[in-house]
Amino acid sequence: MDAIYRTQRHIYDLTRKYYLLGRDRLIADLAPPPGGTVLEPGCGTARNLIVAARRYPHARFFGFDISEAMLEAARESVRKAGLQQRIFLTRGDATAFSAQHLFGLSGFDRVFCSYTLSMIPGWERAIAASAASLVPGGRAHLVDFGRQDDLPRWFARGLYAWLDRFQVTPRQDLELVARSVAAASGLRVDHRPLYRGYAQYAVIGG
Ligand SMILES: C[S@@+](CC[C@H](N)C(=O)[O-])C[C@H]1O[C@@H](n2cnc3c(N)ncnc32)[C@H](O)[C@@H]1O
Repeated sequence: MDAIYRTQRHIYDLTRKYYLLGRDRLIADLAPPPGGTVLEPGCGTARNLIVAARRYPHARFFGFDISEAMLEAARESVRKAGLQQRIFLTRGDATAFSAQHLFGLSGFDRVFCSYTLSMIPGWERAIAASAASLVPGGRAHLVDFGRQDDLPRWFARGLYAWLDRFQVTPRQDLELVARSVAAASGLRVDHRPLYRGYAQYAVIGG
């Protein structure tokens, strides 16, 4: 990941604004409880954490990423935003993490994965680990590239080929995996396509 992001991190937020769709919709849905905790595995430049921290001033935010280059950019952005007291960052792997080990917490009220599952080879484990790190009553929100079902074939083919160049693989089975993870913990899933299937959005919760 560091090889991909060492140079890209400088232009990352500007270029992704137009095609990582659904991120702000997800943030608007988070609505953590007063004094609540929110985690973003694969937080990248901390763009989402900063938007969310401004929107929910009563909550604390936690993020980790596998790329040290992205974390450097994230720390700088959080510092510039003056949010070091409410956004905490560290290095970690979304496929195997512990709230206790990374942040000394028993779990989180909200966990969200934004355009990260499509980059993680063991993405199924990342969904399971996210759900496992919820406190009772918590919710996991997932947004990523979708199946492109209601968009022209040529568009889907072009998008998938282009994403492949960046080692990004849209997860056709995201809904299925989310449902199986949720069922194992007695949770429910709300899954829906966004923007004619360009993106997909799932919420795992009680
Ligand atoms: C496309 S970026 C998305 C960043 C951010 N979530 C957003 O929506 O702007 C994907 C991020 O996932 C991180 N990543 C990839 N594999 C990871 C893993 N196994 N554990 C944690 N982060 C990972 C990458 O380093 C990168 O920062």
